[in-house]
Amino acid sequence: MRNEGRDTGTMRRRYATLLALCVLQVTAAQPALGAVRTVTAARALPECRYDDVRTRYHEPSEWRRTLLDTFYKIPSSYVPGSLVSTERASLNGGYRIRRAVIEDLEALARTARAAGAGVAVQSAYRSFATQKRVFQSWVDQIGYEEALKVSARPGHSEHRLGTAIDFRSAKSTRALWDYDDWATTESGRWMKQHAWRYGWLMTYTNGDKSETCYSYEPWHYRYFGRETTAAVHESGMTVRRYLWETYHSDPVAP
Ligand code: DAL
Ligand code: ZN
Repeated sequence: MRNEGRDTGTMRRRYATLLALCVLQVTAAQPALGAVRTVTAARALPECRYDDVRTRYHEPSEWRRTLLDTFYKIPSSYVPGSLVSTERASLNGGYRIRRAVIEDLEALARTARAAGAGVAVQSAYRSFATQKRVFQSWVDQIGYEEALKVSARPGHSEHRLGTAIDFRSAKSTRALWDYDDWATTESGRWMKQHAWRYGWLMTYTNGDKSETCYSYEPWHYRYFGRETTAAVHESGMTVRRYLWETYHSDPVAP
């Protein structure tokens, strides 16, 4: 959390730079032969292609900046540090998450409970092997093409970062995807309205699939810390766009 102020500042600066790059046509001070020099536009959010390209920020310590989608992945050697039980946040056990999220997760869970919208953990950290099994089980159920829309291939899942959770209602173990829209349940609605205040963002929002690369998942939240999520919430950007525009679209690493 110590880095959040810097991260938020960086995001705003880079977003401003991005906007400027999109509109600028700069005439060189003394252009040879009167030529007009056009500044290359910053790269737009890429299409959701399928490949296995190592994402720019792929070290476990870089989790706030790591962009994962159908194209970008983390290496098979990736192991997040300091995984602890979700019981440490007064939630149900059997799942692990990074210690860094516990304080805000505990606050989120306590406040949701007090509001009559208690949440529980349906899934948290997943190893490479677990994600492989999860993806294959979807392939077995609905076929490869459909599985690609609802499940990440191994290496591409945010669950591997140790900072993503699938939430369910504390009162029900019903499969999340069996709801028309889990965000219309008491718990899901509370999460949609308030999770960002505790540092969590819904990654796979309902809308343009070219923004998120996956089907709508109102239960899947990723932790970034409160200052970052306040800024992203205010901007209206999806998680993928925020990470792309802030840290990944610039060909030169910040
Ligand atoms: N369901 C999301 C995309 C995952 O498998 O990580
Ligand atoms: Zn998930």
